[in-house]
Amino acid sequence: MSEIEEAGLPAREAAVNYLEAALARRAGLDEAFAAPGSMRLDPRERAFARALTMATLRRLGPIDRALAGKLKKEPPERVRTLLRLGVAQLFWMGVPDHAAVSTIVALADKNNATRPFKGLVNAVLRGLLRDGPPKDDPETLAPSWLLSRWQMAFGAETARAVAATIADEPSTDLTAKDPADAEALAELLEGEVLPGGSIRTAKRGDLSEWPAFDEGRWWVQDAGAAIPVRLLNLKPGESALDLCAAPGGKTLQIAAAGASVVAVDRSAERMKRVTENLTRIGLTAETVAADAILWPDERTFDAVLLDAPCSATGTFRRHPDVLWAASPTDIAKLVAVQKRLLDATADRVKPKGRMVYCVCSLEPEEGEYQIRAFLMRRPDFDLDPIEPGEGGAPEASVPEGWLRLLPQHMAGGVDGFFAARLIRRF
Ligand SMILES: C[S@@+](CC[C@H](N)C(=O)[O-])C[C@H]1O[C@@H](n2cnc3c(N)ncnc32)[C@H](O)[C@@H]1O
Repeated sequence: MSEIEEAGLPAREAAVNYLEAALARRAGLDEAFAAPGSMRLDPRERAFARALTMATLRRLGPIDRALAGKLKKEPPERVRTLLRLGVAQLFWMGVPDHAAVSTIVALADKNNATRPFKGLVNAVLRGLLRDGPPKDDPETLAPSWLLSRWQMAFGAETARAVAATIADEPSTDLTAKDPADAEALAELLEGEVLPGGSIRTAKRGDLSEWPAFDEGRWWVQDAGAAIPVRLLNLKPGESALDLCAAPGGKTLQIAAAGASVVAVDRSAERMKRVTENLTRIGLTAETVAADAILWPDERTFDAVLLDAPCSATGTFRRHPDVLWAASPTDIAKLVAVQKRLLDATADRVKPKGRMVYCVCSLEPEEGEYQIRAFLMRRPDFDLDPIEPGEGGAPEASVPEGWLRLLPQHMAGGVDGFFAARLIRRF
């Protein structure tokens, strides 16, 4: 029996919880994956549930459009969840047709509230099976309010190209502790070295079993996320501050460059991850659990990174839930927090020192507008233009001296990022 056929009803039941949590609230998916009930699942069932949820979220738009053609009226939420998972099973999970339908019908039958809809679920899924997979149309892959925003920000054609990457499953990117080790690691890990030095591999499975993991020679970091620290051009012995540091991919880069780094994050829990990561890689940093705005520390630094909390819409390749859990209200709240963080961060930069502000968001309010407004407020700072190609930034991603990286800017995709480098004049 294949793994897929072995994964039974508990896996599908878990996927119901995961999907509903992902759509109910920001970070709901991560919380549901880590919940005790989920951790008690057999690892194979859990992996299947996770993969099914991700497949459903990557194509939620096309799935809902296909369902709209089959449903005369809106079914209860739980029935819609079952149907959504059923469609993903039918077309993108390699589950045999009969198992894709029967497992979902069996789940509908298990619950008093969904049992009356068993026949409907069966009929809709069989009907969709006859129609074939819904088309990956960029206009349906993105929620319409986000697509409209991207059209306003980047133009219709570029917005379409962004949305077209939503259904793609990303490969894994790694950063080498020693950039000179990247070629050797790429060979060991069956990958390739990208222009900025990140290693991209199509390998799957448990990372801790991959070559050179135990030796701490690499860590997982999207190729886009690795660019901002490179823009700081750190030299050994410089003092650096990493604000909003957890889980610490960028702290590791800063420490690996030989700078002496202080890493600050509000979440003590997430800060533990930074410490664990530093230990595994064999690097050191001063770690502080504190609110970066209120942190009563008067030191100033040669180089400061602010990787601010944001809507994370640039990370939909690995976190497709962000597309469906984000809201315009959230974005407005985050913009206000970023502004306060930027002002507090600026005061911690030495005169003649530099600061990189970055967000993994595609929204200009969190990037370009934020920096334009900052430069108006702070005459002591200038934009230090980023050159195309610097730090591995593709030419198309550096339109105006800052980084506006879009997922289609690298073959095989990349996380969307905004980054600006600023110099403190006095
Ligand atoms: C985008 S993530 C940082 C990712 C991290 N720099 C990395 O590369 O692994 C944003 C982080 O900001 C932290 N955060 C949010 N508000 C904060 C604040 N006021 N002060 C300090 N950290 C904050 C969150 O706890 C979260 O870990």
